[in-house]
Amino acid sequence: MNPKPQTCTGCTSYHTNQGYAGGEGDLTCDIVFVGEACGETEAIEGRPFAGGTGRMLRMMIHQAGLNSTNYYLTNTVKCRPPANRTPTQEEITTCHDRYLAAELALIKPKVIVPVGETALKHLLPTAPGGITQLRGHVFDSAYGKLMPIVHPSFVAR
Ligand code: URA
Repeated sequence: MNPKPQTCTGCTSYHTNQGYAGGEGDLTCDIVFVGEACGETEAIEGRPFAGGTGRMLRMMIHQAGLNSTNYYLTNTVKCRPPANRTPTQEEITTCHDRYLAAELALIKPKVIVPVGETALKHLLPTAPGGITQLRGHVFDSAYGKLMPIVHPSFVAR
């Protein structure tokens, strides 16, 4: 599902024009991974988790037994924030209302995997702790079951 930010003037990231990556994967899948935001490589390729840490995530997903027909990758924010800064609340809310909400409503996954703190705090604002405490646990949310994992860039560091 590729939103067309050239027609989206919703938030600050759009106005900096650093590029974007829409969601990628099978719309009939059971598991949706939600990262933070589009990065440099993702903006060049127009797909999420396309850079070094993204490739690490994809490798781990495949090692866990999933293949490209049974998961979907996307980001909380589809545009690339300047200098890869953390997205602002305005960017997160705008992008959710325009894109992420529609992706989740269409796919209706059995499990959503927030990848890192930004996605966790967005999808579960009442999270009783940070990502390093809550990773691997299952939570009920407004969007269904969530099982957060740490971001691959955290693992790489
Ligand atoms: N980090 C993310 O959160 N998402 C990407 O697509 C790439 C890096």
